[in-house]
Amino acid sequence: MNLFSRPGAITVTSNKWLTPYLEQEMAALGYPIDERFVTGVRITGTLTECIRLNLNLRCASQVLYSLKSFKAANTDDIYRELTGFAWEDILPDDLYFSVTSNTSNPTINNSMFANLRVKDAIVDRLREKRGSRPATGAELTGAVIHLFWKDDQAEIFVDSSGDSLARHGYRKIPGRAPMLESLATAVIMASKWDRASPFVNPMCGSGTLAIEAALMATNTMPGLFRNNYAFMHLKGYDESVFLNQRGILENQIADAKGLRIIATDYSAQAIVNARKNAAAAGVDDLIEFSVCDFADTQVPPGKAGVVFFNPEYGERLGAVSELEAVYRRIGDFMKQQCKGYTGYVFTGNVELAKKIGLKAAKKTTFFNGPIDCRLLEYELYAGSRREPAQSA
Ligand SMILES: C[S@@+](CC[C@H](N)C(=O)[O-])C[C@H]1O[C@@H](n2cnc3c(N)ncnc32)[C@H](O)[C@@H]1O
Repeated sequence: MNLFSRPGAITVTSNKWLTPYLEQEMAALGYPIDERFVTGVRITGTLTECIRLNLNLRCASQVLYSLKSFKAANTDDIYRELTGFAWEDILPDDLYFSVTSNTSNPTINNSMFANLRVKDAIVDRLREKRGSRPATGAELTGAVIHLFWKDDQAEIFVDSSGDSLARHGYRKIPGRAPMLESLATAVIMASKWDRASPFVNPMCGSGTLAIEAALMATNTMPGLFRNNYAFMHLKGYDESVFLNQRGILENQIADAKGLRIIATDYSAQAIVNARKNAAAAGVDDLIEFSVCDFADTQVPPGKAGVVFFNPEYGERLGAVSELEAVYRRIGDFMKQQCKGYTGYVFTGNVELAKKIGLKAAKKTTFFNGPIDCRLLEYELYAGSRREPAQSA
């Protein structure tokens, strides 16, 4: 059974609420969606398709290829089912593998126990067939097997990604409260930014939003920053397919002549880090960095520009009362300095957002880890009216 040529069900997972943006990416790549969930989509394809998906998706977390669905009341059922599966056809001789899971079953209160049973089943099967024991561990650097188990319904997958695709591989220095790269991509996709007009990012921190904007404008895919994926550690993997896909990505990088991306932060260290991160992503020459208070950010005149804020929101950094004044000043800055732009504030605190004092034209829900967040959109037409105590 060569999974690289056998069509099967592929589940592409994403962080909560990123599915609409993941769907847009899948549509652009030409994959019809069979089913959608809060945290991903299901399509039909081969493991060769998984290679392309891993290299091309900005909003995804894992690309999972389904091996089998079965009923399992307890972990003994899982062990029995999986010792009967022909792992020797999928996993190579010289093997290191790990097991991950997403479980919700009343017979266990720790998913590690389910992982252990899956690992034991695979090891026992391979030892019986080959007479040798494969290496196992927690590092996702080799083959990865994933168990989804809810109530009595189980599904076992090959995780073709390994380490999460939600991190785009270029960021070396995270800084304070950085955004996850897949989330930064999705909030930009949710905006009106046309990938050619100015993109202004005061309070840029480690630079995630500005860097993701530059990568999108130049059509640079995160797959170019990564050399190890779990699909590389499966039987039937042909390196020429991966190299061919990488070659396509290299050839499609576009010039973003004339584009202005401006990123500022009052922390000199944040700007040092953001520059290094941008250099690692190969887009440092596209971003104009400077150290200043956000209110001193120079905003180029223009009609279709966007200004993006991701201020602290009191959950992790900064006391809420001090932040009220900051949010008020953000409102003043957008109103006075960003005329003709569309303004965006990504925050996990809607009460603080009210202090901005402008009426949001649109509110889009996101999650930053466990924190319920909103992307607030403001039309900053000339003469934008301040509306005190408006709901954000
Ligand atoms: C939540 S972090 C931004 C994280 C960023 N989106 C990232 O992915 O790394 C907020 C940033 O705002 C900066 N900041 C706070 N107050 C500021 C001010 N008055 N002027 C400029 N930057 C400020 C902080 O130094 C911090 O880097």
